[in-house]
Parts: sequence; structure tokens; C-alpha cells
Amino acid sequence: MTSHAPKFLKDHTPPEFLIDQADLVFDIQKNSTWVVSSLKLRRNTLFTGKKSPLVLHMGDYEIQSVTADGIPLQTHEYNADGRHFQLTDTKDHVSLDIGVVLYPKKNTRLEGLYKSNHIFCTQCEAEGFRQITPFLDRPDIMTTYSCTIIADKKECPVLLSNGNLVDSGDLEGNRHYVRWEDPFKKPSYLFALVAGDLCNIQDKFITGSGKKVTLKIFAKQNNVEKCRHAMACLKQAMQWDQDRFNLRYDLDTYQIVAIDDFNAGAMENKGLNIFNAKYVLADPKSATDEDFMNIQKVIGHEYFHNWTGNRVTLKNWFQLSLKEGLTVFRDQEFSSDLNSRSVERIANVKKLRMFQFPEDSGPMAHPVRPDSYIKMDNFYTMTVYEKGAELIRMIHQLLGETTFQEGMTLYFKRFDGMAVTIEDFLSVMAQASQSDLTQFKLWYTQSGTPMVAMDRSYDPDTQKLTLTFTQQTLPDRNQDIKLPLHIPVQFALIDAAGNEATLQEHPSLLQ
Ligand code: SER
Ligand code: ZN
Repeated sequence: MTSHAPKFLKDHTPPEFLIDQADLVFDIQKNSTWVVSSLKLRRNTLFTGKKSPLVLHMGDYEIQSVTADGIPLQTHEYNADGRHFQLTDTKDHVSLDIGVVLYPKKNTRLEGLYKSNHIFCTQCEAEGFRQITPFLDRPDIMTTYSCTIIADKKECPVLLSNGNLVDSGDLEGNRHYVRWEDPFKKPSYLFALVAGDLCNIQDKFITGSGKKVTLKIFAKQNNVEKCRHAMACLKQAMQWDQDRFNLRYDLDTYQIVAIDDFNAGAMENKGLNIFNAKYVLADPKSATDEDFMNIQKVIGHEYFHNWTGNRVTLKNWFQLSLKEGLTVFRDQEFSSDLNSRSVERIANVKKLRMFQFPEDSGPMAHPVRPDSYIKMDNFYTMTVYEKGAELIRMIHQLLGETTFQEGMTLYFKRFDGMAVTIEDFLSVMAQASQSDLTQFKLWYTQSGTPMVAMDRSYDPDTQKLTLTFTQQTLPDRNQDIKLPLHIPVQFALIDAAGNEATLQEHPSLLQ
């Protein structure tokens, strides 16, 4: 039951309701999982439209119970059709408790809560949280969560969710429970739960402010020793983000779980990353250099999302490149600083030319910030990720490292805990550099790869070298007329001996 009506960026409005707190209880039974979510909702004063009753996104499951402010609702007081859950009437503030039953073993969509090889796990980005419980499943709903998990001790000795572990204990019938609390507001796509029989390796990291962070990587027992490289990479990433971006980790624990059946490469859920096992496990006897470097990159990428994506998140899914382009840029810089910068650059340009350029000139061409989508999952593309990272790289090149970092500091100062847009990012970069990035913004809204040509002429009498650049972007289904893009150009002059030189030093260089 998916909707095929496109959603448009121009139609985005602030949400009518906000959810300040979500307390979730998962009772994992043999064949089903019962979920009760207690939501504290209120009307959003920023919403200016006509007041209407609450509508939540929902997935393909049956509602078992609903109470509003502690009073059970009759079935005529709400409507649930597998896509939306609607109240017939809503006060300005309401506490809703909604009970649903899920069948994780039967969930083959690999989103929401599913069971992979005896392990329960979740995937909520982009719009999977609604498959777990009715919710305002959009990234500008920032909520604090608690998550209580109850399960059989033998089948699920390990019970994980986001944030810090605050309670645990035994229950009757060989069952046990844990309670996790995440003190940071987050959008629903960053919610995660993992339950099963997993082993882990453990380490620690002391942040720049002296905070001790417990690091754990979970995998099946026979794989746990293959997580050592990933653990070393995690510590490198934590150190690098402090040194280069002045960003520290914020929770008491950072956990990574390696899962066999995982659709995406990895997922940056707050404090509980879930990875496709191939980006965690490396057997020193058989893994190649490339395997080791990919693990370093992906571990870094997901860790860097903690600030670029999680602490500062997206106002709507059209802004996906705000977190992905920026985080790919950060993982590229991490790999460049720790390994060979030129080898990293060659690999990234090769990838861009082999995969992103064809995407940008074919039927899938779309701007880095799309104007519309039917199913957001189709927009996890080379254009959003890799071209998006190149746009950040051009801004970095225009501003230089120091000013770029001043812009980043301003970004976190102004937008921490908020859901923002690509314009918001450009505004801090423009402010830090006192420059106008209005024309640069076209890179985000116009699709296609510009072709750049250079003409060079040298006048020996005046000793003047003139370089003339022209650019052309072919029309496509997104735009008939392509406007000129702001393209920073970096060049060097190389003399006959292969040495870099400046015009002043070698006036006859280009004759
Ligand atoms: N958000 C995830 C990532 O890019 C999944 O695509 O890391
Ligand atoms: Zn990412």
C-alpha cells in the first residue's frame, strides 16, 4: 500500500503537530512483537493553516489499542487504514498510547523491525519508522525517546537501542528487560533496536573534554574477532573529528552491530550504528587492502553523521544531500588525512566519472536537491552522495580550510538540535566568508554535468597570459535552459622540467 503521488519541495509546510517525547515498549514474543508507544503531542505554533485533527503515518499492521490522556478510545474515535492513523478530534496537547502487533519474521521489506538470521533489527531511514508504530514520520519532528525491550533471555541475551542504558533486570519466565534513554532529540529515521544472541568486543575512547566513551562492536560469535580493525577505525574517526572539525562524541556509549541481511551499506542511528557485515568484518588472513580501507571509510562515515545528520538534521527529505554530501566530504577528508590524499582523490574522481556522470546525463538525472519524489528510497544516489560531496569540496576550495571550519562552527552553533535546509548551510558559509553564494546554489537545483573548455593565449610583448573558460550544460528533462554555474578553478603552471612555477618567476613559461 504505497502512495504513488509525488511529494513536492514547494509544498513543504511546518508540521501541524510536534512530538516532544516518545516512550516505546517492545515485547518480543516467539512469533510476534508487541509495541506500545506513548507519545506526548502538541500543536505546532509555527503551523499557520486551518486546525485539523491529528494524522499520523502508519504501516501495514493492526492497531490493538489506543488511549488519549489515559482514556481508552472507541474505534469510531480514530481511523486507521494501513497508511494513516487519524483521530476524529484532537486537543492542543494530548498524550497518546498506541499498541500494535508486528510480525518481524514475516517482514521481508528490510525496513521497520525485521528478523535477519535470528537477530531482530530495524532500518528506519527514510520512512521505515512508520512500519513500527504510528508516528509523524518526517525528519523535522525531533523527539526524545526512551526504549524498553522485553525478550526471552536465551533467545535475545543482548537488547540494544539508542542512547544510554538506564535500567535492566530479570522478569518471570526466563525473560528480561532493558531500558535505553536517548537524551538527544532526534528524527524518527534515527531510531534503532537490535535484539539477539550477539557477542561483542569492547574498547574505550576518552574525548577531548575527558569524557569516557564505551565502544562496543557486536557480531555473531564466530565473527567477533574480525571486528578488531573496525574498532581501530572507530577510534581513529573519533580522534580525527576532534582534531580536524573540533567535534566530540556526546553519549556514554557508541555501539555498532554487524548484520548479514542489511539493505544499505550502513546506518548512522544515534549511538547504535547498524552495518552490513561486509563493512565491519575483516579477517587479517584474507582481507585485501581495499577491504581494510572501505571499512575505515564506512566506519568513519557513519560516525561523522553523529554531527552532520544527527545533531543537525534535515528539514525534509529533499535536503538529503545536506547530510550525505557533507558526510561523504568528511569521510573523504578522513581517508585523505590518514592515507594518501592523491590516491583517495583519484579513486573518488574515477567513481564520479564512471557512475555519477552517466547518472547525470541519463534518464535518472536529478538535481543534488530534488524538487519532487515518489519514494524517497530511490534518491540514495550517486548524485546526492558523490556530486553532493563535490559541491562541499568546491565550497571548501573557495573558502579555504580556516574559513570553511569557521562556517562549520557557526553551523553547529546556530543549528544544533534543529532540522535545517541546504540554504541554512550555505548561509553560514556565506556569513563566515563574507561572500555571496547565491549563484553557487544553482549547483543544488540544476541537474547535469557542465562541460568546461579552456582557451589559452599568451602575448609575449605584454607578457600576459589569458585563460578563457566556457561552460555548457546540455538541457535535460529537469531544465530546458541551463544557467552558468559558479565553478572555482585551480591551476598551476608547470615548466619543461616538470616543476611548478608562477608566472612572475617564469614569464616565458607558456610561450
Ligand atoms: N544514511 C545511511 C548512510 O548513508 C544509509 O544510506 O550512511
Ligand atoms: Zn551517510
